[in-house]
Amino acid sequence: MAKVIIFSGAGISAESGISTFRDSDGLWENYKIEEICSAGCLDWNYDATIEFYDKRREDIADKLPNKAHTEVCKLQKMFPKEIKIITQNVDDMFEKAGCNDTLHLHGFLREVRCEACGFLDDIGYEKLSNVYDACPRCHHNLRPNVVFFGEAAPKYADLYKELQDCEMLVVIGTSGNVINTDMFLNSQIRYSILNNLEPSPAINDTLYKKVLYKKATEAIDEIVSDVKRFLDT
Ligand code: APR
Repeated sequence: MAKVIIFSGAGISAESGISTFRDSDGLWENYKIEEICSAGCLDWNYDATIEFYDKRREDIADKLPNKAHTEVCKLQKMFPKEIKIITQNVDDMFEKAGCNDTLHLHGFLREVRCEACGFLDDIGYEKLSNVYDACPRCHHNLRPNVVFFGEAAPKYADLYKELQDCEMLVVIGTSGNVINTDMFLNSQIRYSILNNLEPSPAINDTLYKKVLYKKATEAIDEIVSDVKRFLDT
């Protein structure tokens, strides 16, 4: 298990041109969570839900990782055993930056899966209906491999495993409304950094050793130096 966790949310991808959820003009200002991203939506609102995720996939097709993703990936490759990248994001910016062992807590937009038989496939940036009419194994409807509100998030178990050995926590670009990183800050965590564009009512920033309210691409050099210093001592 890694000593340093770099934990991110939608803010790290904002400068790649991918919408956040709760900032002004964020996705949840323009869509209703209860209609396209809540448990049960696939039963009563299948077409609109699928269309929403088709659009999200299309949206990220031409997006590129920004400096924050690339620097985090470079750093993780320098210290592969000591650093774990964990993200709430379903986009593929870390993968495009070259990191393929990122833990995606809320799923991965490029993937679709079958709830009946477990079939899973990466369809890239395609519309689901261009690739599959139904599950090729059992003919059940396919769904985006994304965790909806009210659904279980199986990868949270891996997050808690990783936290067992964590001594430094870096949080980049999350409002803390869904996962509140304050609760990770136990006495074993000797150093912590919070980087967001602005304070969030859900996060108690006095709990973090260093707070950087600026764009992730502007904060990343300082974050990288702090992680290197931490791992060298
Ligand atoms: N650099 C750093 N932080 C930024 C930037 C930026 N360029 N732009 C925005 N932010 C910060 C905002 O200040 C805010 O705190 O990113 C955060 C975005 O918060 P949310 O939109 O709530 O995104 P997130 O916390 O990742 O949402 C969590 O909610 O809808 C669900 O499943 C979805 O994984 C998502 C979860």
